[in-house]
Amino acid sequence: MIEIGKEIQTAAYLFAGILFILSLGGLSSQESAKRGVLYGIIGMIIAIVATVLGQGVEGHIYIIVAIAIASVIGILVARKVEMTSMPQLVAILHSFVGLAAVLVGYGSYIDADTQTLAGSEHTIHLVEVFIGVFIGAITFTGSIIAWGKLEGKVTSKPFLYPGRHLVNIILLIACFVLGFLFVGVDVATGMTYLYIMTAMAAFIGVMLVMAIGGADMPVVVSMLNSYSGWAAAAAGFMLGNDLLIITGALVGSSGAILSIIMCKAMNRSFISVILGGFGAVAKGEAKEMEGEVTSLNYDAVAQLLKEANSVVIVPGYGMAVAKAQYPIYEMVQYLRKEGKDVKFAIHPVAGRLPGHMNVLLAEANVPYDIVMEMDEINPDLPNTDVVMVIGANDVVNPGAQDDPASPIYGMPVIEVWKAKTVIIMKRSMAVGYAGVENPLFYKPNAEMLYGDAKDSVEKIMGFLKG
Ligand code: TAP
Repeated sequence: MIEIGKEIQTAAYLFAGILFILSLGGLSSQESAKRGVLYGIIGMIIAIVATVLGQGVEGHIYIIVAIAIASVIGILVARKVEMTSMPQLVAILHSFVGLAAVLVGYGSYIDADTQTLAGSEHTIHLVEVFIGVFIGAITFTGSIIAWGKLEGKVTSKPFLYPGRHLVNIILLIACFVLGFLFVGVDVATGMTYLYIMTAMAAFIGVMLVMAIGGADMPVVVSMLNSYSGWAAAAAGFMLGNDLLIITGALVGSSGAILSIIMCKAMNRSFISVILGGFGAVAKGEAKEMEGEVTSLNYDAVAQLLKEANSVVIVPGYGMAVAKAQYPIYEMVQYLRKEGKDVKFAIHPVAGRLPGHMNVLLAEANVPYDIVMEMDEINPDLPNTDVVMVIGANDVVNPGAQDDPASPIYGMPVIEVWKAKTVIIMKRSMAVGYAGVENPLFYKPNAEMLYGDAKDSVEKIMGFLKG
C-alpha cells in the first residue's frame, strides 16, 4: 500500500477542511444545497484516503473491508429511509459518533505510545481522554433515547421526577471529582474511573433527553448533533488528528447555531432545553374550545379556489406522510395559470426536521420564489382570500399566541386565521406532534376538509378541471 508523507497529508486535510466549510455554506440556501452536499462528499473522500494512507497506519485490508461493509449498510439504509424518518436516522447516527468517541478514548488511554508521555503533555492527554469519553457517553445514550422518542418506541411525554436537576448536578460534580483523581492514578485504576464516569455520563444522557417533551425534540436532535461534533473534536485531540478537530468544531458549532435558531422559532430558552423539561408542563388549565367545527366537501373547496384571487398553502407533517407535494404543485400550477397569486408558507419547524417542507417542495420542483418564510407571509395573510393548511397543525395553532396555559404558548406561528377563509386538510380532529388541541378548527372562518392530503388534493383538482 502507498504511504503518503506528513506534508501531503496536511495539505489534503487543509483542502478537505476548506471543502467542509464550502459545504456548510452551500447548505445554507436551497439553490446551492446540492453543490454543498457534493463538496462534503469530495471532502470526506479526500479525508478518508489521506488518513488511511497516512504514516503509521497498519492493517489496510481490515480498514478497506470495514469501509466496504459500512458503505453497503449506509447506502441500503439511506435508500430505504422515508423522508419522515430522517430525524430518527440522524439521531441514531449521532449515537455512533458518541460511541466512537468513547471507544477512541479507551483505546487512546491504554495505548502504549501515550503511556510514554510525561509532564504537562501527559496531563493534557488525560484531560482530553476524560472529556472526550464524557461527551461521547452523553451523546451516545442521549441520541438513542432521541431516536426512541422520534420512532415512537419511548414516550414523547417528558419524564420528569422531583429533584432531577439536583441528581444531574450531583452526578456532574462526581464526574468532575473522578476526572481530577483520574490524572494521578495508574492505568488499571484509571480505567475503572473511566468506566464509572462513562456509566454516570450515560445516565445523564438518558435523563437529559427523557426530560424533554415532544415539541422540543428538533432542538434536542440538533443539540446532539452539536455534542457529536464536540465528541469528534475531542477524539481529534486524542488522536492528534487536525482534520477531526476542524470537522468536529464545524459540526459542533453549526449544530449549536441551528439549535439556537430553532429555539427562537419555538420560543424556547436554549439553556432550559439543554437542562430538559422546560415548556413541557402546561402552566394551568387549558382553554375550553369555543365555537363550532364546520366542514366542506371537495366541490365547495374547488369553488372557493375558483373565486379566490390569492391563495396561500401551509404544508406540515401530514403533507410529508401523504406524499402530497406532487399533486399539490400540480394544483398550484393550474391555479397560477388561471391568474391567481399562489404562494407556500413554511414554518421553521414544520414537519419533523429542519427544512423538511423545503426539501419536499424542492423534490416536486416548486420554484423557490413562491416559497415564503413565516415572517415574510404573516403580514400578507389578512389580505389573502384562501389559506389551505395541508397536514399542518401545531404551526398554525392560535393558542400559541392567546392561551398562556398552552404548552406551546409563545411559539411564533403562521397566522392563518387572519385570512378570509382557512381550509384545514387533515384526516380527523386529532392533535399534532405537541399533543395540544387547536382552537383554529373552531374559528368562524375555518372549514375542515377531512381525508388523506394527497387524495383530497387530487379530488379537488378533479373538481377544478371539471
Ligand atoms: P403536526 O402538528 O405534527 O400536525 C400534523 C398533522 O398532520 C396532524 O394533526 C395529522 O392530523 C395530519 N396528518 C397526518 N397524516 C396525514 C395525512 N396522510 N393526510 C392529511 N393530514 C395528515 O405538524 P406541523 O404543523 O408540521 O408541526 C410540526 C410539529 O412537529 C411541531 O410541534 C414541531 O415542534 C414538531 N417537530 C418539528 C421538527 C422540525 S425541526 N421540523 C422535528 C420534530 C418535531 P390527522 O391525524 O387528523 O390527519
